Amino acid sequence: HSACSLSYVSHEIRKGKTKLEGLPATYGLEEECTTLEITCMDPVISLEVVLCYTLFEELDVIKKNVRIRNQNKNQIILTKVLSSCLNLEGMDYDMITLNGSWARERYVERKRIGYGEQGISSIRGESGHQQNPFLAILSSDATEDYGEVYGFNFVYSGNFIAKVQGCQFDNIRVIMGIHPETFRFVLETNQEFQSPEVVMVYSDIGIGGMTRTFHDLYRNHLIRGEYKDKKRPVLINNWEATYFDFNTEKLLNIAREAKKFGIEMLVMDDGWFGKRNSDNGSLGDWVVNEEKIEGGLHYLVSEINKLGMKFGIWFEPEMVSPDSDLYRTHPDWVLEIPGRKAALCRNQYILDLTRTKVRDYVFNSLSNILNSANIEYVKWDMNRQLTDVGSYAHGEYHQGEIYHRYVLGVYDLMERLTKEFPHILLENCSGGGGRFDPGMLYYSPQIWCSDDTDAIERLEIQRGTALVYPLSCIGAHVSDCPNHIVSRTTPFETRGYVALSGTFGYELDITKITEEEKKLIPKQIAQFHKYSDLIRTGDYYRILAGVDCNYDCWQIISKDKTETLITIIQILGRPNVHSKRIRLKGLVKDEMYCDSESGECYSGGALMHAGILVPNLDGDFKGKIYHFIKE
Ligand code: GLA
Repeated sequence: HSACSLSYVSHEIRKGKTKLEGLPATYGLEEECTTLEITCMDPVISLEVVLCYTLFEELDVIKKNVRIRNQNKNQIILTKVLSSCLNLEGMDYDMITLNGSWARERYVERKRIGYGEQGISSIRGESGHQQNPFLAILSSDATEDYGEVYGFNFVYSGNFIAKVQGCQFDNIRVIMGIHPETFRFVLETNQEFQSPEVVMVYSDIGIGGMTRTFHDLYRNHLIRGEYKDKKRPVLINNWEATYFDFNTEKLLNIAREAKKFGIEMLVMDDGWFGKRNSDNGSLGDWVVNEEKIEGGLHYLVSEINKLGMKFGIWFEPEMVSPDSDLYRTHPDWVLEIPGRKAALCRNQYILDLTRTKVRDYVFNSLSNILNSANIEYVKWDMNRQLTDVGSYAHGEYHQGEIYHRYVLGVYDLMERLTKEFPHILLENCSGGGGRFDPGMLYYSPQIWCSDDTDAIERLEIQRGTALVYPLSCIGAHVSDCPNHIVSRTTPFETRGYVALSGTFGYELDITKITEEEKKLIPKQIAQFHKYSDLIRTGDYYRILAGVDCNYDCWQIISKDKTETLITIIQILGRPNVHSKRIRLKGLVKDEMYCDSESGECYSGGALMHAGILVPNLDGDFKGKIYHFIKE
């Protein structure tokens, strides 16, 4: 057979939401959500399919997934399991997606929906830099603050498809799930297959409403762990400062200088293990290189701790270099189509994480390092897409399961890591933001947003990312200029304002920047301490996005509407332009709000309708922040 026709059998409604074994998923207490499970059956092939919907009481959100059970006495091969399918009346819709590339992730694209099929996908084995597993359908007249919007986000970090079909009856259908092209899953008698879930958000107050619902959902019902609601330490990462060229002394010098200005944690990036002095070796050999880290890791970390700073470390657990002891000992531990040589990418292969033995090796390597010193942060990197996806451990008949089993393997490792080391702050990363998806957010409260740290490029990247994902999870640092990716020089203040609307930190050699720049650091850190709670927990509004491309402006308001922070960045300086009017959003009309800098007070109504006049910021890439507090 290659058919499936389902009929209703029964249904059940209950409070709360069941945990998805082995998969990331939203969660909620019994009083926060209700679940409906509809059991269907195809009697011809004895396949049971349970459609699971969860509604969140406080948010306009439905999550959907499916569970499949083979009740046939023979095996059944699944070739297509989507997680959601929604039909909408009419064709008068636009579609928003987030597209890009390495160092240019999640640019917003809006286009009209037409007949036939249109959509996005990934078959790169990860969600990818190119197309985020997110799609919004909106009435064609919808704006930031007006109109109906349906947002879809796939809680999964592997191959996906999200498709819109405009049909002959002038209606549309939206589907989302694991990409069928790379999927062939064998289900034995009585075995179950659990699909990942799709989160569906509805807003009747425009795109901004959708964004804020996603943020609330993810902050309260997806992100977990000790740092869920906690301020993150201000870190300095040595990647752009030193690349592979560092040793204990260099790191300690950076830390000593950083400490003077209020930085709280040093993160040692790629290059501390095996014989790794460039990107062509040693992945998999998670043993400290004592030629660089003289005195060992314990010594380095205790010296950092003595300064009163925390210490964090970089890993790329999913990979192995051909030039490594691990690969020389276990050449069959990589993903490879048996009989063919796998392709290298960034000089590395992918470990076959579908295998328990391989996962145990990775977990033990990480644990050994993490137990050997007082490590309080881990950056989990993943620097290549999957190719040659085959496994020596599974028979030919099961090779179509590997893409999915790989993702399950990654989740298993992350679950073990976060359980065993609950105090560690985990940050995900994939060549910048190549795996910025809700699946990853279930394990790590923050994700490195992009390898492009240029403040102006980051405006687009962070705006696109924040369309769906909360600011609390967007990894953002102040880096050196000229910028290493685009060679642009921007004011140090502006770099600070942009990083402030993310996790905030530094990624530069602090021993080499100018005295004037150094002097700005304590001011930026004071701003971080002052505004971090507001930025992490508040409501986010886009003020000028797409309205005037010479500016970007966004606003964050505390939930109780007593405090708001506005950031405006002027891209290019222009002659004879005296000011820019910005109208705030979301305030209480009759309350008075006072500007913390000038002390002047205005009603919420005045700030929302007359707005404020931002003076010409005099030059390129200049920024300013405003902070208002209720009188
Ligand atoms: C990726 C990350 C960077 C850095 C390098 C190290 O590109 O995105 O931040 O960690 O790997 O190799």
